[in-house]
Amino acid sequence: MSSQKRPKRLSVPEIRARKGGEKLVCLTAYTAPTARLLDPYVDLLLVGDSLGMVLYGFETTLPVTLDMMLVHGAAVVRGSAHACVVVDMPFATYQESKEIAYRNAARALAETGCAAVKLEGGRELAETIAFLVSRGIPVLGHVGLKPQSVQATGYRARGGASAEAQAILADGRAVAEAGAFAVVVEGTVEPVARRLTEELAIPTIGIGASPACDGQILVTEDILGLFAEFTPRFVKRYADLGDAVEKAVAAYAADVRAGRFPGPEHVFAGRTPSLAPAPAPDPTSLRKRA
Ligand code: KIV
Repeated sequence: MSSQKRPKRLSVPEIRARKGGEKLVCLTAYTAPTARLLDPYVDLLLVGDSLGMVLYGFETTLPVTLDMMLVHGAAVVRGSAHACVVVDMPFATYQESKEIAYRNAARALAETGCAAVKLEGGRELAETIAFLVSRGIPVLGHVGLKPQSVQATGYRARGGASAEAQAILADGRAVAEAGAFAVVVEGTVEPVARRLTEELAIPTIGIGASPACDGQILVTEDILGLFAEFTPRFVKRYADLGDAVEKAVAAYAADVRAGRFPGPEHVFAGRTPSLAPAPAPDPTSLRKRA
């Protein structure tokens, strides 16, 4: 393919430059076919560690490994041509030290072809984010509700009390100052997410945050009705594919049981080949079995 024909993939600087401009449309994707369907419509595809719950049936994101993220990250890059692809760094792959974070994040970029990684955390991660960014690894921040800390904090919305609101604002500032190109603001009361958006020079990408954010992200399976375990308040459902899948599978099962599938149009027609007669059964082996 000539370079002129190749569709242009949105870059990290282009995402960064959307601060205060056209809203960033972001969704999660874990597989190539889903990425292919979403790609023409979104600016950013996040290979979120939410795949642990949505795809693998874990109760939290904590059991997700780097190897899982690498396999899914590479699939999403292969399935997309336009969106900027970001891979989530899973629990315990970046918190221990900035050097370990660099090694793991470098693997994510090199082995998946993604443009950037996402790390959950605020002030405590500022040094790590600066370390990665200064060595050529773009970082998407993530503040407010941090699902990898759910054992310590639970899933409730953040920022209702003023000390917590101040902490989220300080986290957002620290992540931006450290060099993150944008920051996800999750499960945060609306005025705090709005304030963060007004203050920061980088785009905020809200999920359960505020319409004022520079962009929005949701889990694709949530908006399509494909993840029935629970639906958070901030999700808007745009389709009920779970229902459609159930109906289709029930119809297939009924067809197979009734002998309606496969029909003549689903089999390979042709002349009946001359087949050697089936060998006569060996009477001794029949006796043995009886
Ligand atoms: O893991 C994920 O999918 C996320 C988004 C929900 C922001 O972090």
